[in-house]
Amino acid sequence: MRAFRPELLRPPRDFVRPQLPHDRPICLEIGAGVGLHALSFAAQHPTIELYAIERTAEKFQKFWHSYQANPLRNLHPIHADAIPWVVHALPPESLERVFILYPNPEPKNPAQRWLNMPFFAFLLSRLKPRGHVHLASNIPEYLAEAKQQAEQTWQLPYEEKTLSEPGRTHFEIKYLQRGEPCRELVFTKPIIGS
Ligand SMILES: C[S@@+](CC[C@H](N)C(=O)[O-])C[C@H]1O[C@@H](n2cnc3c(N)ncnc32)[C@H](O)[C@@H]1O
Repeated sequence: MRAFRPELLRPPRDFVRPQLPHDRPICLEIGAGVGLHALSFAAQHPTIELYAIERTAEKFQKFWHSYQANPLRNLHPIHADAIPWVVHALPPESLERVFILYPNPEPKNPAQRWLNMPFFAFLLSRLKPRGHVHLASNIPEYLAEAKQQAEQTWQLPYEEKTLSEPGRTHFEIKYLQRGEPCRELVFTKPIIGS
């Protein structure tokens, strides 16, 4: 896999560098959609700061409206492409958890799947040792490929969970209602040298 070149990426449009807290855990959600998981996770974990990023304007607008109806001090909705945002916003080893829930399967462009991208190395560098990446999907082949990449490319141990109704995100709710198998891989960043 080619190396990721963060120095080539400009900040997203209207980028504002977040004031990251030093005294509270920080989590990141990539592709937050209309924000169902972000809103409930932030409400359930008031001592954790959640930065939830969505690129698509229409989805982000719905997320923003829900957030404004119920603003949570520890939730930070961001309308941006996650890749340049992560590059410009986050220092190394700053994140406890990353959520990537029901990513686009990219059937015609496998190189754009998250664990196939050179950017994934940079994302792992932003995770604390023993931090987690949560990857959920309803597509068994997507998860099988991610497991293979975790083992062969990223050397990440993982656990696998079967998910059940009602579901945490718009897509998860829809897939579970249809009876599709939803599973989550929880990858753990090892401590170097252990
Ligand atoms: C299939 S949807 C799932 C949305 C939500 N996680 C859910 O489960 O309901 C995938 C989302 O990821 C967003 N996305 C894809 N690539 C992204 C990127 N680089 N930065 C931010 N969002 C991205 C898409 O806009 C889309 O809303």
